[in-house]
Amino acid sequence: MNSRGKSVVLIGMMGAGKSSVGRCLQWRTKLALHDVDEIIASKLGLPIAQIFANHGEEKFRQAETEALCDLLGTNREIIATGGGIVLRNENVEILKRRAVVVWLDGDEETLFKRASRSGHRPLLQREHPRKAFAQLLQARRPLYAKVAHLRIDTSVLTDEEVAVAILTKVRNINSQMLSTIPATAP
Ligand code: S3P
Repeated sequence: MNSRGKSVVLIGMMGAGKSSVGRCLQWRTKLALHDVDEIIASKLGLPIAQIFANHGEEKFRQAETEALCDLLGTNREIIATGGGIVLRNENVEILKRRAVVVWLDGDEETLFKRASRSGHRPLLQREHPRKAFAQLLQARRPLYAKVAHLRIDTSVLTDEEVAVAILTKVRNINSQMLSTIPATAP
């Protein structure tokens, strides 16, 4: 990655592989990796499902915005977000300005299968989780599209392959940004 690059932020629906791809990127780049969900859980001293159950989604969303703002400072890092990071406008604005935003997408069935594996996702603890997932995905796809600088379809790729694809594309973005700076610039 170019030394002048911004932090790389992974967004996308539950099951897109943001945390595991984040670990592959960390290994390859040696940059620090932060996971917004992990930061919130450690700050509030509870697993995410318990935060939703005890304090409600709004409290979680507030903590999510605070964690994101704290993270997007001056250091260049890898940041894995939760699937709902695009729901607040203030998150979208800060992401657009301060990060290279990579949207990990995939076909609905694949994403749902991966997302339901853990059994801990509070937004899927419903009578009809498959339907709830489809509705969330439909509502969120335009939001991810609006903020993302890059989109990668992860459906048939391994986490490693996704990480390599990201690094190739981020290098291109950074070199395009640098090529617009005159060679004599201070
Ligand atoms: C959420 C996704 C979760 C977690 C929380 C809310 C969402 O993260 O932040 O349960 O709104 O989609 P993952 O995308 O890592 O599952």
